[in-house]
Amino acid sequence: MRVLIVENETDVARAAAEQVAGVIRAGRASGRAAVLGIATGSSPLGIYRELASEIRGDKLDTAGVSAFALDEYVGLDAAHPESYHSVIRRTVTEPLRLDPDRVHVPNGTSSDLEAECAAYERAIRGAGGIDLQLLGVGSNGHIGFNEPVSSFASRTRLKTLAPQTRADNARFFDSAEQVPVHCITQGLGTILEADRLLLVAHGAAKANAVARMIEGPLTSMCPASVLQLHPDATVIVDREAAAEL
Ligand code: GLP
Repeated sequence: MRVLIVENETDVARAAAEQVAGVIRAGRASGRAAVLGIATGSSPLGIYRELASEIRGDKLDTAGVSAFALDEYVGLDAAHPESYHSVIRRTVTEPLRLDPDRVHVPNGTSSDLEAECAAYERAIRGAGGIDLQLLGVGSNGHIGFNEPVSSFASRTRLKTLAPQTRADNARFFDSAEQVPVHCITQGLGTILEADRLLLVAHGAAKANAVARMIEGPLTSMCPASVLQLHPDATVIVDREAAAEL
């Protein structure tokens, strides 16, 4: 695992965006457009803003790029402003000028959620796998919505959100009760199959999770510790998030 400690949130976004842009450019050069794994949450927002500014300046072209989101709430209509369908459209698809047909988010309102999870796995494989998976980390060490305890071999599946995660995400809803209880998330086994992993974190609230992920034992109690198993994982954090290392 490569760990890069930079000064602040802006530097995290810049350093990470450079890596994502590199993968997009390498895809264009090879004739096989990049397949990105994208994350929601506040952590990657600066990366998306940096990339959008490169695109507006004609320094980056995302034509043909595909993207797969990590997760989605169950039971929230895709049109709900806080569904990850909506969040991804607002923060990634539109600013990065991606073809909406190439941006995939699990369908959390499917009448057959198990079949939806299996279809999502097939879609990732059908696209040739993910070149670079962007990740944030939850304050309890979750990645995607792989809460403690999640199997390292897990695939895309239905999960119950941890009380801590529901509390953390309550800020996006009118009340804590409105935060969905279940979700669909790519599994840890799914995430580990991406060619490269890039996790970003900033702020003191992430310091404990970052330390457990990088230095703690490999344990399903801290799902992010699974990055220790990946041959090409990079973690970019600011000084505050690195405080417990
Ligand atoms: C959310 C998402 C994760 C994200 C994490 C941290 O619930 N499902 O993909 O990484 O929690 O969110 P934030 O970046 O806002 O701290």
